[in-house]
Amino acid sequence: MSLQSALKAMGKQAASLVRDGSLIGLGSGSAVAAFVVALGERISKEKIVVSGVPSSIQVEQVASANGIKLEHSSRLMAIDVVVDGADQVDAKYNMIKGGGGAHFREKVMMEASKQKIIVADESKFVENLTRTIPIEVTAYSRDLVEGKLKELGGRPHLRSLEKGYPYFTQNGNLIFETDFGTIGNPKGLEINLLKVPGIIANGLFTMHIDTFFRARNDGKVDELSP
Ligand code: A5P
Repeated sequence: MSLQSALKAMGKQAASLVRDGSLIGLGSGSAVAAFVVALGERISKEKIVVSGVPSSIQVEQVASANGIKLEHSSRLMAIDVVVDGADQVDAKYNMIKGGGGAHFREKVMMEASKQKIIVADESKFVENLTRTIPIEVTAYSRDLVEGKLKELGGRPHLRSLEKGYPYFTQNGNLIFETDFGTIGNPKGLEINLLKVPGIIANGLFTMHIDTFFRARNDGKVDELSP
């Protein structure tokens, strides 16, 4: 069993929960793409109608190729369920997101949505969060934020492209990948980051998630309810 087939099985399982006529908040990444493809198969077989608010151009493209009606962000508050991926999930179901740079819109969507589902392969599930936290900042606030991140014990470096140019998000902002080592208190750190002016969004997600689907390397899928 390959990871690809596990992702496919997980996408199918998550897609089976979607109701005809619902509005989905679409996260970003390969696990969400597998969900969208599986949902597209249901849409064409069962003739159901599903709409989606995308969090990135990546998922917008996959969604439009798979028969999902795209909706504007003005429909955010009407989202029935958000389906999103994760970069790391700890034993208490706190997450780091933003590996694809889409975490600002993903976080807005998560807060707006009534139901929250995460799809991720088993490599993302860890005891404690250790990955660098993607922190989106406006170019204007860059120096201030860099200093504040250091004061909070982080080691920030600007995310850059292969040739060294800075990476810009789809909101036109920069990202500080910030190393906080092993994160013992994700909620506390998230609150401290929220206090820094100039941070548009930090990649710590500590809100309650209804369901996690975990794709295992043996091809099986676990359904976890925190
Ligand atoms: C996007 O910015 C992230 O929050 C994604 O949800 C994350 O990178 C998941 O991607 P994969 O499903 O490809 O691992």
